[in-house]
Amino acid sequence: MALILVTGAHGQVGREVELALLKAGHRVVSAPHSALDIIKPDHVLSAILDSKADAVINAAAYANVEKAEDESSLAYSANAIGPRNLARACAQAGIPLIHISTDYVFADRKKQPHTEDDPTTTECIYGKSKLDGENFIIASGCKYLIVRTSWLFGRFGRNFVKIMLSMAQERSELAVVYDQLGNPTPVRPLADALVKITEAALAPNFTDFGIYHYCGYQATSWDEFARAVFTQAQQMKVLTHEVNVLSISSNDFKSKAKRPQDSRLDCTKIQQVFGLEIPYWPDYLGEVITAYVREGQGLPPVEDYDPPSLTESTSPEQVLVSNATGPARLS
Ligand SMILES: NC(=O)c1ccc[n+]([C@@H]2O[C@H](COP(=O)([O-])OP(=O)(O)OC[C@H]3O[C@@H](n4cnc5c(N)ncnc54)[C@H](OP(=O)(O)O)[C@@H]3O)[C@@H](O)[C@H]2O)c1
Repeated sequence: MALILVTGAHGQVGREVELALLKAGHRVVSAPHSALDIIKPDHVLSAILDSKADAVINAAAYANVEKAEDESSLAYSANAIGPRNLARACAQAGIPLIHISTDYVFADRKKQPHTEDDPTTTECIYGKSKLDGENFIIASGCKYLIVRTSWLFGRFGRNFVKIMLSMAQERSELAVVYDQLGNPTPVRPLADALVKITEAALAPNFTDFGIYHYCGYQATSWDEFARAVFTQAQQMKVLTHEVNVLSISSNDFKSKAKRPQDSRLDCTKIQQVFGLEIPYWPDYLGEVITAYVREGQGLPPVEDYDPPSLTESTSPEQVLVSNATGPARLS
């Protein structure tokens, strides 16, 4: 059993990572944005040292690709300076940092899935800020695992699946881009994978630190992704009318952020090193649609959801942090 500090703990990935850690028998130092702002180096250092965590999983980020074009300094702070602070603090504490990055570091037109060794290039602020974050971590001297993933959809928070469902409530036709390729990735198996690689990183003889790719199988385009969502929602009777998905080109989609045309990821390395399986993403649409329905009914997205809370220790398995103003600390 290990003690893992999770930053960005109330995000789409953070919540699922916490559940996966607790399910695997670990203890969690839950550090949502309100408890720990990763752009503050002193807070980050004291939170990590005081917590006595064995490892940090960084699920904090400025993840709004479109808004990042107008809020570049916020994006840069959270996605580049924050990871730099975490990496330096982890180096000082001598513990591994598990960091989540993105397929948007690949804006080339390779026309094949990208491996970890492929050159990076980005054309949007979000991608640039995430790439800077990766480079700060690499330069920090800490033991790191950077996991690049893509097109996330999970039970918590907002994502493409829930947005499509919401838009379909009032429309019978939606225009969705067809000429961008990527891999939808369900967040629940990603969280399990993050737990497994964290456990591996804590083994005394582990040396395979570095960058890895993890995403869902198989690659698709946004319009096909949308069609898969609607087909599943109709089968579940969540959607009772037909929704025609009109395929449009990126040029016809009004967007400030220039997204990659083909950011498919090759996951061979993470499969070989950690023995992980890659999830077939359509298998996970149902649980996210169910979460969407539950949220619409005013329920938590997940049945019996019992997250680590902020100020009290609810069970011996859960070590909880902190107050809204100070650095994270053990309660
Ligand atoms: N979403 C995707 O499709 C996607 C694809 C590829 C990679 N990723 C990566 O996956 C990771 C998790 O993304 P996500 O989808 O879970 O995003 P999310 O739902 O937006 O969660 C990010 C969390 O980070 C918090 N945060 C923002 N700035 C922070 C700061 N300065 N200090 C501490 N916490 C901060 C946010 O809190 P507030 O809400 O209070 O700001 C939010 O709770 C990120 O690294 C992202 O780049 C995401």
